[in-house]
Order: sequence, then structure tokens, then C-alpha cells
Amino acid sequence: MSEHRARVEFDPRFTVAEVPERLFGSFVEHLGRCVYTGIYEPDHPTADADGLRGDVLDLIAELGPTMIRYPGGNFVSGYRWEDGIGPKEHRPRRLDLAWRVTETNQFGLGEFMKFCRAADVEPNMAVNLGTRGLQEALDLLEYANHPGGTHWSDLRRSHGDEEPYGIELWCLGNEMDGPWQIGQRTAAEYGRIADQTARAMRMFDPELDLVACGSSSRAMPTFGAWEAEVLANSYETVDYISAHVYYHPVEGDFKSFMASAQDMELFIDGVIATADAVGAELKSDKKINIAFDEWNIWYQDATGEEAPEPWSEAPRQLEDQYSAMDAVVFGSLLITLLRRCDRVTAACLAQLVNVIAPIMTEPGGPAWRQTTFFPFAEASRFGRGTVLRTGTASHSFTTERFGEVQALHSVAVTGEDGSVTVFAVNRDLDRPMTLDIDAGSMPGIGEVTCATLTDADPHAKNTLDDRHRVAPAANTNVHTTEGTITVELPAMSWNTIRIQPK
Ligand code: AHR
Repeated sequence: MSEHRARVEFDPRFTVAEVPERLFGSFVEHLGRCVYTGIYEPDHPTADADGLRGDVLDLIAELGPTMIRYPGGNFVSGYRWEDGIGPKEHRPRRLDLAWRVTETNQFGLGEFMKFCRAADVEPNMAVNLGTRGLQEALDLLEYANHPGGTHWSDLRRSHGDEEPYGIELWCLGNEMDGPWQIGQRTAAEYGRIADQTARAMRMFDPELDLVACGSSSRAMPTFGAWEAEVLANSYETVDYISAHVYYHPVEGDFKSFMASAQDMELFIDGVIATADAVGAELKSDKKINIAFDEWNIWYQDATGEEAPEPWSEAPRQLEDQYSAMDAVVFGSLLITLLRRCDRVTAACLAQLVNVIAPIMTEPGGPAWRQTTFFPFAEASRFGRGTVLRTGTASHSFTTERFGEVQALHSVAVTGEDGSVTVFAVNRDLDRPMTLDIDAGSMPGIGEVTCATLTDADPHAKNTLDDRHRVAPAANTNVHTTEGTITVELPAMSWNTIRIQPK
């Protein structure tokens, strides 16, 4: 038993919110090899008739995303969606200025919808509000969602898709606050365009779910003011405000990195406070929720990756390899999203394959799971139902960035069958802990299991040559005594503790 004792308490009667289906979204951008040789590789031995890689679809089924955002990302702000429809031999090759590559357009909206059906995920479509605007968004909406008898809907039918796609979730542009974004706008400009676009899209279908762009990160100089201005313009016409964040260790400060979820919490607090302040001033009864539609670990300044040949096709870009430590931090971010799912009602792990992704592939070769694959798969599989209010206590450690931080980070989710799953991260890099889970409020405790992801080498990774180096393993240090479950959590670990009712 470790000298550090921690505690989690819950009562199934005291809840936070139901876990929204869209919380386990992911993201496919035309970037690097996410699409080409990622999800789509017609010559691959496992490819189906639509060119989708079967080995990747199998891993996606295991990962369990529920919704996929597409086609960008920065890419969307220079994209003409019409380039990606119709006979492939007629589709134009275009410069993609966002990532300085050539886009062949061999994959487009129709292929994406086939992918969504094959992967059993909800589509989340972004419109280009960078180089384009309202009319093109409406054309795309008509092509996608109108049954037939008009120019764009009949064009879709002539392309072989008789039935409308029925896309309900739409992003109104991408990161429009960022100077790197093609067609960056001021908050006032963007707020007005987002509102006008949303109003017109709702004339077609008032039930659409629309996401306005929030800040590209909490560190943006306009953070807060941006959300306030955008929502002051569009509060009654949009449903969500987006948030994006990527973490990585800064100058070897791994302790602060382990506590990255503290920053994500502050980000969520700030966006909710701002959105609710706008709502209060407008005397609106409506609440705007957060679509955390890009979140992940991303070694933005140190991938060690060579810059691709300018204007090459689907080069290797942003192919971060994740460590065991990254997976634990990633799990902690998932815990935050679950803990705040009363207001974060959609989220997208950015991205899905090859590009800062849980799934990696080799062209013509195998596909494998990165370390971050496992927390996502377990949260998506077992984190369904209702998030419970919890009381927690543990030892703390000191970080440069966030001061004193509790080593234990956890969330409890109860399923319809009365089971409770506790996801728990020990954020302390050096010290294990003994966790007591007070499950006395459950009618009875049946089987209890724990799967733990950790590694003696925090920097261990799964690579092409060693694809199974890091994975969760059964943790047998679990004991139940009179309503209390005691589990040993190794230092730097992600743990999924499943408690069955009796
Ligand atoms: O996910 C990679 C990039 O990060 C996206 O294209 C952009 O939206 C963000 O800056």
C-alpha cells in the first residue's frame, strides 16, 4: 500500500448531466495523411469498394468516435466544396495554401458521407467563411440536405446519392480569430457573418445545430472579448461556441504538463462566463454550450519532422508519436470534458488518423494504436450514461504553471445498468497512491475491475517497429471491503475502474 491515500465519493442520486453523444467526436481534415493513406487508400489490401481502409475502420470501431468534423481545420478556409463532388477524373487539383500542399480532390463530400456510414458516426460539416461566404454555404446545404427537384439536390442525385445526407451539425468557419487563418476576421466582422449565415441556413431548416467559432486557444490576445462580440451578434442564431486547445510540455516542465487539465478547466470557465454574460445582457433564456471541437496533445514546436516538399500530395505532416505520459495527460483532458459535460456538449479529438492522431498507418502497410488511443476508447465505451457529482481528496504536488495541484483527477459515470465507472488519473510523476472509492451509496457491489495504463519509461511510445509497446493492463491491486473499493494507482497512470452492481 502506498503512503499516499486518496479518496473518491459519489452518490448515484447526485448528478452533473447525461453524457452527450457528441462528446466523443473526432476530426478528419484534408491535412497530411489523415484522408489520403489514412482513412482512404483505394490500393490498400484491406480497402473496400469505396477505397476506405478496412484495417482503419476496424480500429475506428474500437476507438468509438461518435461524430466526425470535416473537412477542416485551416484547410476549410480556402476550400471549394464543389471540387470534391462528381466524377473523380474531372475533379480539379488545387493548391491548399493553409498547409502548402496540392489537394487532388479525390476524396470529397460524397466519400466523406460513405465514410461516416461505414464508421457509424455523425457528420459535422464545416463551411468556408474565409475565402467564401453565405451563398456557397447555402449551396452546400442544398446539395447535402435537400431531397431533390432543385439544381444542387439533383446534382447530388446525379452523383449517385439519391437520399439527402441529413447533416444536422455545422461549423460556421474555422478559427476565424487566428492570423494564420485564410480570411481572418475581426470579432465584429465574423459575428455578423456567422449570424447572417446561421439565419439563412435556418430558413432552410430551423432545426440545424450551428457552431460559431470561439477562440483558437485561451492564450489568444482576443480571448474573452472575441466570444463576447461574436455572441453579441449571433446569440439567438447559433447553438454552440467552439473552443480549441493543444497541450505539450514546455521546456521540459513535465509537472505542469501533467496538470494541463487545469488550463482546460479555466478555458471552459471563461467561455461559459462570457457566453452567460452575453445571454444575461440580452435577457435571453437560451444557453450557449461549448463545442470543444479541437483538443489534443500536439508538439507544435518540436515534432522533429522535416517540412514537406512544397505543394506535394498528402505528405507526412504533424505525425506526432505519443508517449505513455501523453496518454495520461490526454486521459486527464477527457476527464475534464466529462466533468463539464453539462455545458461542453460536443467535442472533437483532433485528429483521427496520422495527423496528431490516435491511429497511425503506413501506406500499403499496417495500422496501429497510439498510446492516446486507449483512454479515448475506454471513455467512449464505458463513459456513457450520467456523470455523477464526486467529492475527492488526495495529496498534491507543486507545478510552476498552476501552483499546487491535486494528484488525483477523476470522474464517475453511472450507466443504465446501475454500474459505475471511475476514470482516475494519478498526475504525480513520482509517487503512487492508494485510492479508496466510497461506493456505499450503490445498492450492492458486484465485480470490480481496473485497467491501468502506465509505463516505467514515461516516454515509451508505440511505433511502426514496436506497435504494442504501451497498452493498458489489468490492475489486480483491487480490494473491496464494506462498500469501499481500494485500488493502487501507479505514479503517472490512467485507470478505468468498473464497478458492477450486485
Ligand atoms: O488540427 C490542426 C490544426 O489546428 C487545424 O487545422 C486548425 O484548426 C488548428 O489550428
